[in-house]
Amino acid sequence: MKISVIGAGNVGATAAKVIADRNLAEELVLLDIDAGIARGKALDIAQSAPLADFDAQVSGTADYRDTAGSDLVIITAGMARKPGMSRNDLAHCNGKIVRSAVSEALARSPDAVILMVTNPLDVMAQLTLRETGLPKERVIGMAGLLDTSRFRLFAARELDVPPRDVEALVLGGHGDLMAPCLSLAAVRGRPLRELLSPEKLDELVRRTRDGGAEIVNLLKTGSAYYAPGESIAEMVEAMVRNHQKVLPCTAYLEGEYGISGVYCGVPCVLGKGGLTEIVELPLDEADVQSLRNSAAQVREHYESLLKTIDRE
Ligand code: NAI
Ligand code: 2OP
Repeated sequence: MKISVIGAGNVGATAAKVIADRNLAEELVLLDIDAGIARGKALDIAQSAPLADFDAQVSGTADYRDTAGSDLVIITAGMARKPGMSRNDLAHCNGKIVRSAVSEALARSPDAVILMVTNPLDVMAQLTLRETGLPKERVIGMAGLLDTSRFRLFAARELDVPPRDVEALVLGGHGDLMAPCLSLAAVRGRPLRELLSPEKLDELVRRTRDGGAEIVNLLKTGSAYYAPGESIAEMVEAMVRNHQKVLPCTAYLEGEYGISGVYCGVPCVLGKGGLTEIVELPLDEADVQSLRNSAAQVREHYESLLKTIDRE
């Protein structure tokens, strides 16, 4: 298994470290436009091998030839939204970076699965599907696992239980577009709606929705990377080990939940070739509606990106 991570910033390097620690790759390549960053971080990760007990060969580069023959390419190259930048400005700027990164990577690894992470996530995944003409099974995005992990933590703290005991699925577009499926949330089999008041649930949903911004405000420069790194590795593990387990991931919908022609966070089964199946869970009417509203917003953002990016 050869995995290349494009973008050796906070998220890319953290994901690479977790992937190495979990022994998910024989070869792990970190690529960045800044070769020094990629090489330095790769060397640092490699030097943890004797202690962390992994076998992966980890290398850093700015040359796409070193990524040749990758089974999986993870795209984290791009920038975070800066003050004063609109969502569309960010999509435009990262769209150009993602477009070139995916094309360079696929030219050397034509059979790779693309795992998109760069924001705005859903829109970047959809742009990639369109530009590459790959089957939807090979273009998936990471966001739902992160949003779900945040929600599970906040609920666990509220109820004073271990986070692993909280079952939940946060679907829909990433961040403020998310659709929390409260009808499925439970603690040790008991519905969360029976354990917490509607006001408390609203508060948890709001904090999850603003989860990325809360961290940006604390860090002042940069955004979250530990939980995103773990979330990426969780998806990678499901694919590498062919776990076929259901995880909230961003995938292209063709009629599921009554939504078509757009990327959105939904329960997905992942395996060796990427997306195996989109699972249609029995959500209640309110949850389905919030998923559809979220998908409609993603579609709007994607269409406004196309208006500017296609002019170039
Ligand atoms: P960062 O700024 O630490 O790293 C980005 C890296 O991309 C930098 O090292 C930069 O040199 C590199 N880069 C820029 N242009 C490039 C190009 N053309 N080719 C190769 N590398 C290039 O940012 P961070 O924190 O790692 O975040 C990366 C992206 O991931 C952002 O768009 C961020 O918003 C997104 N993100 C998405 C999450 C999700 O849930 N989907 C969660 C967290 C972050
Ligand atoms: C987050 O949710 C910035 O998408 C990133 O933390």
